This record gives sequence, structure tokens and C-alpha cells, in this order.
Amino acid sequence: MTDAMAEAGSMESRHRGCLETLRERGQEHVLLWWPELTPAQREQLLRDIESIPWNILDGVIESHVVRRPDRTVPDDLTPAEVYPQSPGPDREATYQAATVQGRELLSAGKVAAFTVAGGQGTRLGVDGPKGAVVVTPVGDKTLFQLFAETIGAARHRYQADIPWYIMTSPANHEQTIEFLAARDFFGLPRHDVILFAQGMLPAFDSAGRLLLAAKHRLALAPDGHGGSLKALATSGALGDMQSRGIEIISYFQVDNPLVKPFDPLFIGLHASTGSEMSTKVTSKADDLERVGNLCVSGGKLMVIEYSDFPDELAHERNADGGRTFDAGNLAIHLLNVDFVDRIAGDSFRMPLRRAEKAVVYVDEAGELQTPTSPNAVKLEAFIFDALPLAQSPLVLEVDRAEEFSPVKNATGVDSLESSRRDQIARACRWLEDAGVTVPRKTDGEPDVTVVIAPSFALDADDVRRQRDGLLVLHRGDSVCIE
Ligand code: UTP
Repeated sequence: MTDAMAEAGSMESRHRGCLETLRERGQEHVLLWWPELTPAQREQLLRDIESIPWNILDGVIESHVVRRPDRTVPDDLTPAEVYPQSPGPDREATYQAATVQGRELLSAGKVAAFTVAGGQGTRLGVDGPKGAVVVTPVGDKTLFQLFAETIGAARHRYQADIPWYIMTSPANHEQTIEFLAARDFFGLPRHDVILFAQGMLPAFDSAGRLLLAAKHRLALAPDGHGGSLKALATSGALGDMQSRGIEIISYFQVDNPLVKPFDPLFIGLHASTGSEMSTKVTSKADDLERVGNLCVSGGKLMVIEYSDFPDELAHERNADGGRTFDAGNLAIHLLNVDFVDRIAGDSFRMPLRRAEKAVVYVDEAGELQTPTSPNAVKLEAFIFDALPLAQSPLVLEVDRAEEFSPVKNATGVDSLESSRRDQIARACRWLEDAGVTVPRKTDGEPDVTVVIAPSFALDADDVRRQRDGLLVLHRGDSVCIE
């Protein structure tokens, strides 16, 4: 038998196997165009089909795709206990000791940075990885560059080899590597930047039928930021962390240029309280702000999404008039390596959540359709669903203006424009704090476009220490301090 014959035979048997698996589930329509596919296309389609994790999906297509999952929230919700932003006299010593411990952990090389960058960024609507988008109002810095500079500065400050793990998706993995390689990983040692791709799940129509993105491709989408836990384990990244002696993973999303991944207080509180997973929160801007709410039910810490959160709880007030459920999730977490190792084992399942999205698909006539409104259901795991699994999870309140201004949308709230404004505002605060006069307009807005590169300063204290070398700002100046 020639190689070609053997290959054809094996493809035939794989085709038979796939057909059987699909038939059992009423999904054989995805092989409709098989007769007209080239051998390479057949190979691709078989690979897509063979990648479907039926062990996960069999249980949820009916409950999460055909029907909407039951999202009744527990009826015993109470607000999460939160470590306040400012300690107050009773906690002052605790915060000081925690900050010292956090610094020691950083200096001992126990903390790794972890960016989840596998999302599709559909709302922002850019081609390619979101981390490659220029986000600073001046200085042309991309999100990846800001993070790389932050890591570089922390490595210098703590004299430690802080590795940077980046989760991509199969859809942007190569592009991400190319982008970083073309910039020489922004000066970080190549072996300390570790990239790996997350898993994908198929998209369905509302009847639970698999969608085709082309006649030879399933419509596949990344399995959510919660997929990062499994991907850390299966990619070998977790093993790599263990071999380097890393104990704490500093998790942040690719879209937040203000993030402070090496916060000694947060790290120290996390470690000293025995937390396995911690989260930063901020006081909600209003009762119905579209952020997750940190709550406790049955003794477990959890995030209830704004869309599921009952209105009466959102509006509830304490005796002092303050908002009862005030802690909004910022998606900035610390996770113990041991915790991820414990939960990401074989039988591990993060709950899947349903998202309705517009997905390009091939219809029954073989025509490509580009819907403008949601036609498909995607399933995603969310990282905060790991909180109820953690021992002693900790919640720390921070100042949103200092740490959070994500770039999610093309315009309006959480857009490039709002994030640039917030970057300038933070830089001006840090400068004024160091004694620099910032020209302001009559409405109080800065009359300068200024940002502070992480390579120059990681926080206001850093700026203060370098105050002698700081420039004089004139109205209309546009400057990136680095
Ligand atoms: P978002 O929820 O903002 O989703 O992700 P997104 O895919 O980036 O953007 P839209 O919804 O399509 O506009 C929050 C963070 O989680 C990462 C994103 O890259 C971002 O850092 N993420 C999201 C993943 O890494 N994988 C996913 O499957 C989803």
C-alpha cells in the first residue's frame, strides 16, 4: 500500500468515526459539503470536529443553548467582606505588615504576571491582538508595551526574575508572537515571556446545531477567560511556574492600561490571610453599574453579574445610607499556583455561561451569511467562577481612577477615548503629588496631554522620588515621560 493510499484510508476511517459521533447528536449536517472539499479542507474539518469536547458539551447544549440556563440567584446573598482601600487605625499595622510581606514575595521571585489575551475584542473592532493596539494618548504605546515596561520596572525594583505568561487563542496566537518578537519582547528576556493558547468551543444556532464558518470549518470561539485555568495546566505553563518556584499568579486582562500587577499590599494581604484566590474591587459608580457584584451565599464568595443581580438588592441601602452591595469586580486577581493545580485536574469543570453573538456562518444553501444581530450562542467560562472554589478568598477595595480604565468599546464608556482621558488624569495626579504644576482649564481638566511610562514610574511614590528631574509643563504640551 502506498503512503497516499494509507492516508486516504485513515481519513476515511476518521470521517466514519466523526460521522457516527455527529449522528448520535443530530449534528451530521456539518459534513454536508464533504464531497466537494479538497483533501486539505477535509483534514481541517476533521480536526475541527475531533477537537469538540463532547464530554463537556453533551450536558449543556440542551440546558444552555436550546434553552436559557436557569440564572436564578441564591436568595441568601449578603455583601462580601471587603478590605477597605484605606486601612483606618484598626488595620494600619496589618496593611503595613502585608505591604512588607508583599515586597518580600516579589523580591523572592514568587510572583508571576499573567495576561489573558485570548478574547476576540469584537466590541473594539480591531484586527489582530488587542494587546497590539496603541492606547496611550501620546508616546504610541501599545497595551503589550505598557505591561512589558511594568514588568521590566518591577524586575528592576525587586531585583527578581518576574516571568510573564500570556494566554492567547488559536485565532491570535501566531500574530501575538510575531508582534512581540518584532519588538524584541520589549527588552524582556525571551525565556521569561511564555505564550500559550487557550481552548476553543463551537458556536451553535439557537436550535443547538453546530455552525459552520466555512464549508470546511466549524465556527469556533475561545472558551472564555475562565478557560485560562485549564489552559495553564494543559499548556505546561503551570508546570513551568512550579519549576521556577512561582507561588502566586497575578492575573489581569489585556485591556486595562492602568493595571498595577505588582501591588505589595494586595499580594501581602492575599498571602498573610491564606487566600487561594483574591480579587480587587471598586466602589460602584451607581447602583446599576454594569460590573459584577461581590456577594456571599452559603458561606461562599461569588460574583453575581449585573445582568443577573436583582434590582432590589442593587438599590438596597445600609442604615448609614451607603450602598449595601457596593463592591464591583475589576477582574484583577491573585491565584495561588497550588490552587490552580488543585482545581484544574482532569475532572475539573468551570461552569459555562451563555453569550448570544453575531457569528458569520454558512447557511444550508452553502452561502456565507454575515448577520448584524446575534444569531448564535457561544459558551464561555468566566474566571470569577473559581472564587467559590477557593479557600479564604480575599477582596480588596482600590481606587478605580488609579488602577482601572479598560479599553472595551470603540466609543463611549470604557473606550480608547475614556481610557486615554483616565491615563492623563492619573499622570497629572502623580505629577501634582510630586510638586509639579499641571496647567488646567477652567473646568479643572488638564490642559496638557501627558502620560507617565511604567518604565519611568510604577506609582506616585516613584514620581516623587524623581521630582528633581521633572519637567515644567506648559499649556498644550504633549509629552510621554519616560
Ligand atoms: P472581554 O470580556 O472584554 O471579551 O474579555 P473580549 O473577547 O476581549 O471582547 P469582546 O467581548 O469580543 O468585545 C476580558 C478579558 O478576557 C480575555 C480578553 O482577551 C480580555 O483580556 N479573554 C476573553 C480571553 O483571554 N479569552 C476569552 O475567551 C475571552
